[in-house]
Amino acid sequence: MTHAPTAEPDLPEDDDPRAGATITPYRDGPLIVRGDFRLVDQDGVEIDPGRDTIALCRCGKSGIKPFCDGTHKRSGFSAPSAPSRPRPAARILREARRTDG
Ligand code: FES
Repeated sequence: MTHAPTAEPDLPEDDDPRAGATITPYRDGPLIVRGDFRLVDQDGVEIDPGRDTIALCRCGKSGIKPFCDGTHKRSGFSAPSAPSRPRPAARILREARRTDG
């Protein structure tokens, strides 16, 4: 008896090999990176993140860039979690699709 190939099993989200990394901009804080990621410098040299979930500075004030050291709290850094308006390229693409269709 032969078995037909089975469909790919439903995996929990954390076990999905295609899940990759999730990057979350925290309100008034860092970029939190979770999942399967590699951190490399500008020359492609691996940076040891030291943990599975990391916080990357986006305020520019950290003493341990690219990592967040919490300085954003004292410096009064303010930024929303989601962009307040679309990136210009996204707006141009959306307008082009609107005029094509
Ligand atoms: S975002 Fe935390 S120190 Fe910059």
